[in-house]
Amino acid sequence: MEQLLKQIEGYKKDITSFSATDDKQVEEFRIKYLGTKGIVKAIMSEMKNVAPEKKKEAGQLLNEFKQCVEARFAELKEATSNTEHQTSNIDLSLPGDELPLGSRHPVTLMRNRIVSIFQRLGFAVAEGPEIEDDWHNFGALNLPEHHPARDMQDTFYIQQNPDWVLRTHTSSVQIREMEKGKLPIRMLMPGRVYRNETVSARSHCFFHQVEGLYIDENVSFADLKQTLYFFVKEMYGKEVKVRFRPSYFPFTEPSAEMDVTCFICGGGGCNICKKTGWVEILGCGMVHPNVLSNCGIDPNKYTGFAFGMGIERPAMLKYGVNDLRLFSENDVRFLRQFTSAI
Ligand code: PHE
Repeated sequence: MEQLLKQIEGYKKDITSFSATDDKQVEEFRIKYLGTKGIVKAIMSEMKNVAPEKKKEAGQLLNEFKQCVEARFAELKEATSNTEHQTSNIDLSLPGDELPLGSRHPVTLMRNRIVSIFQRLGFAVAEGPEIEDDWHNFGALNLPEHHPARDMQDTFYIQQNPDWVLRTHTSSVQIREMEKGKLPIRMLMPGRVYRNETVSARSHCFFHQVEGLYIDENVSFADLKQTLYFFVKEMYGKEVKVRFRPSYFPFTEPSAEMDVTCFICGGGGCNICKKTGWVEILGCGMVHPNVLSNCGIDPNKYTGFAFGMGIERPAMLKYGVNDLRLFSENDVRFLRQFTSAI
């Protein structure tokens, strides 16, 4: 018993003077004292040699020793984990990195505005491929080969396959929707379109359109007008006036273009409306019976209207952008200005 006491006193001194500067040394301490072949275990096994009347006292002594070792182990562990933080060069008191707030692209903002107005009238949204075949971009839209109206749009053809084009308008998505054979159709189809035009402030080789299509029994031109009146009122305000001019598109009959009174000068005449007081915003018409037949829809039973409008121009007017190229250059100084726009 005496001897045990001495032994423990000796170990206690060792323990308090044991110093560790890294994890490895702490582990050495653990193995030496608390491991399966460690000192604590060895001392515990001395219990069997202690006289029965001293067992209680010895037991307390050993327990106290064990707690002492464990406390020192925790202390060493804590101390080295602190020094590790300091040596890894992390200063937790430094302010955090600022996360810049992103913004939606102005074309996306304008598309969302347009889409949300028609969604309130029950239009669903669909998209189609930007690489189209001749049939969907032209043929089915009543533009057979050699039709002169094909020249109205300067098409990009795809070299590997002469049947493929970069779609020149979102009207191709009309065909894809009608082909599905589910009627009635009330769809809005936004997307990017391509035309072989010289890039300048006022024209670009790609831009965006939103196409609308409504097909059911007894749809009339009056429905088309009413739908577009609602759109204009929501988009540009109650004061804005609307006019339809007769026009020509091979896929609609009759066809029209829709103008609104210039929302910059209010109709008085400015540079935007070229002093006319009117701005053209879309093309529209009643879906041509040939187009319905091409898609397997009976033109004697169903009628419908379609319209297509550009997104860039209204976006330019709304956000005061004077050069189309800004939309595709991705200059963050430009894009950042739309952080709080809606
Ligand atoms: N696709 C026509 C264009 O790109 C617009 C349009 C769509 C006209 C639907 C009538 C009906 O100019």
